[in-house]
Amino acid sequence: MDQPSTQILEEISKRRTFAIISHPDAGKTTLTEKLLLCGGAIHQAGVVKGKRLSRKATSDWMEIEKKRGISVTSTVLQFEYGGYHINLLDTPGHEDFSEDTYRTLTAADSAVMLIDAAKGIEPQTLKLFQVCRMRHVPIFTFINKLDRDSRDPFDLLQEIESTLNILTYPMNWPVASGSEFQGVYDRHRGRWQPYPRSARADDLTPPASLAEDLLLLDEAGEIFDRQQIAQGELTPVFFGSALANFGVATFLDQFLELAPAPRPQHTSAGFLPAHTSTFSGFIFKIQANMNPQHRDRVAFLRVGTGRFERGMTVRHQRLGRTLTLAQPQNFFAQERAILDQAYPGDIIGLFDPGYFRIGDTLSERGGFHYDPLPQFSPEHFVSVSVTDTLKHKQFHKGLQQLSEEGAVQIFRVVNRTEDVVLGFVGRLQFEVFEYRMQTEYGASFSKTPLPYQHARWLSIDEPDAIQKSYTTLLVRDADDRLVMLFPDEFAVRWAKEKNPAIEWFPTSYRPDQAAAEVMP
Ligand code: G4P
Repeated sequence: MDQPSTQILEEISKRRTFAIISHPDAGKTTLTEKLLLCGGAIHQAGVVKGKRLSRKATSDWMEIEKKRGISVTSTVLQFEYGGYHINLLDTPGHEDFSEDTYRTLTAADSAVMLIDAAKGIEPQTLKLFQVCRMRHVPIFTFINKLDRDSRDPFDLLQEIESTLNILTYPMNWPVASGSEFQGVYDRHRGRWQPYPRSARADDLTPPASLAEDLLLLDEAGEIFDRQQIAQGELTPVFFGSALANFGVATFLDQFLELAPAPRPQHTSAGFLPAHTSTFSGFIFKIQANMNPQHRDRVAFLRVGTGRFERGMTVRHQRLGRTLTLAQPQNFFAQERAILDQAYPGDIIGLFDPGYFRIGDTLSERGGFHYDPLPQFSPEHFVSVSVTDTLKHKQFHKGLQQLSEEGAVQIFRVVNRTEDVVLGFVGRLQFEVFEYRMQTEYGASFSKTPLPYQHARWLSIDEPDAIQKSYTTLLVRDADDRLVMLFPDEFAVRWAKEKNPAIEWFPTSYRPDQAAAEVMP
């Protein structure tokens, strides 16, 4: 292989591509805004918040559309800080939580887990955490809202460790919370940072009560271990308040230093280091109808290797054809700008006349593809059938295209292949699907909600070899893999107990694939 140029090595070492995972209301919007303020990417507070408020106003399709437009334009926020080039991936939350949220995480090199100090781990955080865990992505924790009454910090650490099965290392340590909050001690730099709104704001000596906690942490806590952080086995924990902008800059500094630059990517040709001399990347998200006037689609590509330049000619591996990428876009808030070049870790928006599917590989040299992106267990299932038989063709075309785009998961019932079951991660995802089937394909259909909430991909391909209960449904996914649908966790446990020889995966992703993602 050619020697990588110093320039590309430098660009890669500056890149940090990450996502924030959290439960709604933990403060993601507020933290994002403060991070952007640190980087000088925005100059006044309220910009990101404005986005959030307009997102909350949702009633009819136009609002959904508008909201999607807004959430799309912020698919990635890019900013510079302290010599780093930062790509902050937006993970849609709230009511537009969908499979996109999970897929976005496949484009991240690390994740920041944001936790409300009064609430601890909440369900959405847990789900997103599991996706990061599966890929061995390093996870950094920010425990937020210390300016409000919070749970005991030891308790919070204990909860993270036992619920998520990850070790914790507090990078700083708080003294009290809410109206009593006094500040944090930076363990890494050995420095007391008083909370500016506290009674002891001017006192640079730490409160006496701190010593005991620090001793306990030193004696009983984990050891700081970069290797474990890199493998996603230990999470550095920071305490602070996003709203008061307290602890955010310190967090960002230490996070950037510890978080990984773009890692080698696993492909059909083995691991490709980011500094490989030729460009390649994969599509992780496709957004249709970003502009209602033009009905356009944009495919988002994460650069995996090499340097991308505008106007570059690339191989589209699945289609076996060559494309010229003339108008790549990058995005910030409401604006789109033409992008001239990009490096590993960067995200490019490509206009999509229908060429792209989730997981597609584009590369300069061709001849290989990135590992397929996993599908994730939907939480809502609907059985659908066409109402107007004359529209049969449109109905199936719509189903196929929207499933390829990743807007819906399609399953067919085993032994009754004409029965179509659709799976969605979020409710809004179904509304959007229904609307698009009607407007883009003219297909109307009847729908019956099904009582399932979990899907498990099976390690075997023999439907008759499974002991099933009548509450479950056996289906095949779009790639013909066997999947079982369950109404609740209890039914999943029952099936596992009765079928000990079978493995049950919550995504289409297999552990061998996960193992392949860990660096050699
Ligand atoms: P999200 O994107 O994760 O959903 O959370 P968001 O930032 O919108 O924050 C949710 C609520 O929590 C907001 O209050 C926000 O001001 C508040 N918040 C975020 N970080 C902190 C913090 O460090 N300390 C305190 N005390 N509050 C915090 P809201 O009342 O819902 O909205 P707003 O009226 O403040 O805009």
